[in-house]
Order: sequence, then C-alpha cells, then structure tokens
Amino acid sequence: MKQTVLVSGGAGFIGSHVTVELSNAGYDVVIADNMSNCDETNYNGVCKILGRKLPLVKMDFCDAEAVDKLFETYSIDAVIHFAAFKAVGESVAEPLMYYRNNLVSFINLLETARKRKDGCNVLFSSSATVYGETDKLPVTETSPRQPATSPYGNTKQMCEDILRDSVKAYEGIKGIALRYFNPIGAHPSALIGELPRGVPNNLVPFITQTAIGKRACLSIFGNDYPTPDGTCLRDYIDIVDLAKAHVCAVARMLDGKMKEEYEIFNVGTGTPLSVMELVTAFEKVNNLKLNYKFAPRRSGDVVAIWADPTLANKELGWKAERKIEDTLAAVWAWEKHIA
Ligand code: UD1
Repeated sequence: MKQTVLVSGGAGFIGSHVTVELSNAGYDVVIADNMSNCDETNYNGVCKILGRKLPLVKMDFCDAEAVDKLFETYSIDAVIHFAAFKAVGESVAEPLMYYRNNLVSFINLLETARKRKDGCNVLFSSSATVYGETDKLPVTETSPRQPATSPYGNTKQMCEDILRDSVKAYEGIKGIALRYFNPIGAHPSALIGELPRGVPNNLVPFITQTAIGKRACLSIFGNDYPTPDGTCLRDYIDIVDLAKAHVCAVARMLDGKMKEEYEIFNVGTGTPLSVMELVTAFEKVNNLKLNYKFAPRRSGDVVAIWADPTLANKELGWKAERKIEDTLAAVWAWEKHIA
C-alpha cells in the first residue's frame, strides 16, 4: 500500500518542490497550508506537473483541533513540517508573532503525533542559521550551534530541541531535522518556484526581479569581507536537489533505517560561492547584464558558511547534483513565467 506523507506548508516554495519529488517517488501527499504567505500558484503548478489534483487542506497548525482533525481524516505515515514564518528582519520587529506561530504550530503537531497509537515520523525543516558565525568551515552536524542572532533563527534552534526532547520522551515518535544551507532555484518545468511577497530579502529573487525590471538595482551587501573577492560566501543548494534530500530522509524513517531516533543532516553542496560569483554566473548563463552596486554590509550577515554534507551523502544516500548554471537558468525561466 502507498504510504502517505503530510506536508505542512506544502503550498510554499520548498514544500511544493518536495511534494513533486515525494509524488514522483511513489508517496501519496496531503498538503496542509494556511496560505498566509502564498497564493495557489505553486499548488496549481504542482498539480500541473503531476497531472492530477492533490488534496490541499487549508488550515492553520496553530489550531490544535484542526491538527487533530487532519490526522483523523487522513492516514498519515510521516509529516514534513515547513509551516513557519521565515523573514529574519520581520522576526526582529515582531518576535512574539514568530515565537507564537513557529513554536505553537510545531508543538500542536507533536501533541497530535504523540496521541497516535502507531507513533509518527516527523521531519523538521531547519536551517544552517543555527550554526551562526563560525571559524571552522565547512560545518558538520556536530559543529556547535551559536546563540541565534534573530527570533527566526531562535525558533529553528528551539524547534530542533523540542523535537529532540519529544523523541526521547514519547514512544513512537521519530524525528529528523534537515539543516538547509541556501535553497535557490525553481522546477525545470518553470511551473513552480519562489514567490516572495513585497521586496525580496533573499539574494536570488532580488537578482531575478532586477533582471526583469521589477527592481532598479541589486545592492551587494559588503565587498570588504575577508573573502577572496570581498563578498560573502554561501552554500547555494538547488531546490530540486534539496527536495530529493527530503524523499531520502522520509524513506529512511519509513523503512526503519534510522540509526538514532533523532537525527540531524546538513543539506548543502559543500562548495562555497561568493555573492559576486553568483551574480556573474547568473549574467553569463542567461546572457544578460545585471544592474548592481556595492552597498554597506547588511547587519546580521555572517561572512562565510558552507556545509560538510558527508553525513547526508553517506547515510541518506543523497548528493547535490544540479549544476549552478542549470539552477540559475531555472530561476530566470521561472521569473519570466510569472512576469
Ligand atoms: C537567510 C537566512 C537563513 C535562511 C535563508 C533562506 C539568517 C541569518 N539567514 O540566509 O536562515 O535559511 O535566508 O534562503 O538567518 N545579499 C545581497 N543583496 C541582497 C540580498 C542578499 O548582497 O539584496 C547577500 C547577503 O548579504 C548574503 C547573501 O547575499 O551574503 C545571501 O543572502 P540571503 O539570500 O538573504 O541568505 P542568507 O542571509 O545567507
């Protein structure tokens, strides 16, 4: 019998790509989303790619009764929890909103999961932000976490700990946290991708919106960092590769392959790229000139961070495969698709 994966936040950027890859791998997917940060563009794109309609339950994970009801309605074998607020700056201005939304929704999910007699497999969408600023690069899963620099980052650390402690305390709950580096890209079909509301905070949507003329000029935040070209270094991971890591992690849980009841994996390429290198690669692969300028450093940015993905390579049998050129061609195709 087919196994069913619940994807909370499944109408968003990462959730929609994960839904496609899970479906391609033979899982049934139930999407749950409160649509607070997206419309149905990506959901419709997913259905088009797959050639069928998937269940979309419009609900809020902060509503405990709704979570219970969801688990009564569907027979769920594993959950991937994306539903969360994610804007770093907004979290500094509205910390309580972030703590309430990101923590309550996850606690509600785990409360429901622990009541089930069959237990539950829970995959939490974490971030490399938990490592903060570190001199020891690349980072491994055992690299110490640094105090979070924003309420958003803090909710990622706290949810990791909530999952770790719940797995220890409640029989039948198993957990994996995936720590993403910088997810970028769009589906090769150009039917799903990133749809930021308002002015994008992240680099790649800002680049594509500048290229298409929605923004006048990209500001490169800082060119005096102690890096080869003075701009920050990051580990940009293609969204389809990232989505496939989720399929491997879900299979590991459902097939009983976990070595511990709570596991953590870095999801990155292992290769750092500077902001300048990314901009230049985008121009080259899409054969265009981008309007950009150097601007002061952005507060809260770390100089450099990239993954040691060895553990995920070995244990999940997963490896980043897509070339950065293909990723940057896909984001441009997506921007043109939604223009
Ligand atoms: C941020 C979050 C991270 C989250 C990720 C999602 C922190 C500190 N960062 O990472 O948790 O997982 O987004 O993608 O919590 N840049 C520019 N101009 C711009 C925008 C960005 O030069 O207009 C530069 C930044 O200074 C940085 C790089 O591009 O060096 C990447 O920035 P961004 O895409 O915002 O990601 P991060 O800050 O690394």
